[in-house]
Amino acid sequence: MSRQEITLSIQLAVKAPDVHRELVRIVGELDQFSIQEREDAAWVDVLVLEIGHDPAAEFETIRLLLKENVVGALFLTASEATTDLLLPAMRAGAREFFQQPIDAAEVKQALEAVLQKRLRELNPGSTVSEKGKIYSVVGAKGGVGTTTFAVNFATSIQALNKDRLVALIDMNPFTGEIPFFLDLKTDTDWEEIGRNLSRLDAPYLQSAMARHSSGVFVLPAPPKLDRELKMATGFLFKLVSAMREFFDDIVIDCGMSISGDAMKICEYSESIYLISTMSMPCIINVRKLQQSFASAAGVTNGRLQVVANRFEKKGQLSLAEASKLLGSDIVNIIPNDYPLTMSAVSSGKTVAEVAKRSQVAKAYRKLAQSVTGPQVGKAGGLFGLFR
Ligand SMILES: Nc1ncnc2c1ncn2[C@@H]1O[C@H](COP(=O)(O)OP(=O)(O)OP(=O)(O)O)[C@@H](O)[C@H]1O
Ligand SMILES: [Mg+2]
Repeated sequence: MSRQEITLSIQLAVKAPDVHRELVRIVGELDQFSIQEREDAAWVDVLVLEIGHDPAAEFETIRLLLKENVVGALFLTASEATTDLLLPAMRAGAREFFQQPIDAAEVKQALEAVLQKRLRELNPGSTVSEKGKIYSVVGAKGGVGTTTFAVNFATSIQALNKDRLVALIDMNPFTGEIPFFLDLKTDTDWEEIGRNLSRLDAPYLQSAMARHSSGVFVLPAPPKLDRELKMATGFLFKLVSAMREFFDDIVIDCGMSISGDAMKICEYSESIYLISTMSMPCIINVRKLQQSFASAAGVTNGRLQVVANRFEKKGQLSLAEASKLLGSDIVNIIPNDYPLTMSAVSSGKTVAEVAKRSQVAKAYRKLAQSVTGPQVGKAGGLFGLFR
């Protein structure tokens, strides 16, 4: 079924007249959504519920709505967001929260995600989304190889298909190392881009992002410790969302951060790679991460991909033992080769550039193949100019 053949229903349980009016206006601009006025409808695809008046009663309503299976996606809105109010609601299964005054772009983005999910359900196996895919990379501990993974994964995707537009983002303010790993001189970081968010178009990004010889566009993190980051809430999520319009693949080095924007970005990711070694402390952290992703963003094993990095047959835990502890098979394995990865980093090259036929380079190639599928480039768009 195509996008044009779908209409999803939205009900607005919103008392504040200006908020209601704004939501009606936003939905009116979307062809694939229509407002459901009837309060006795047996099912609505999206319910926007205003909370904050009587938290106990509202929480009970949320619980019942989700239990009775009468709502596809539940979105919340309130004039004020306190953790006491939001956390139980999000834990109960609400998908999104819109702070008032309503940000139209944020609402449209969330509705688009619902539509994409429905399209995926209706067309299993097909890639209906034309937007770029996000691959988040999260470390189970410091120093496990998160940046090495992000850099070599992104460049391996690019190597498989020169037509793809691949972005690599460093989310680690002050400690980001991607430019160093790729021996890139960069002038602009994402904080700088945030100051020009209104002009986030292809030509601006082209001039702002550094391009590595592999073809990958790199967006570093702000580097200096001596300045305070002045960014609006949700800014990084907005930036990454906007970048999906221009790029086919966006690989993000999240470091060990899964709070705030990073969690939201992970929620919208095609896959989240949890980088771990086969040691007990790391596997325990992976378990905690699995739980956090499940409770905070509803992300479970299908999209969470544990990576056994620096893998050695004689490691502390076997793959079978670690898989058992995690409740899912570990299928992504990068062999241990310290001299190679160190030599790559110190010369500012990728592992494939240093040793194309090495087991590590092969492992990255295999991983990249698992996400690129058939070699199809993204047509049109201003970013086509970069190809
Ligand atoms: N497959 C591998 N085999 C052996 N060593 C590896 C492998 N991958 C990465 N390493 C090494 O692990 C060390 C840490 O790598 P990296 O900087 O990528 O980790 P990180 O998790 O991003 O660290 P940080 O927490 O400092 O950001 C480096 O010395 C790197 O060369
Ligand atoms: Mg790192």
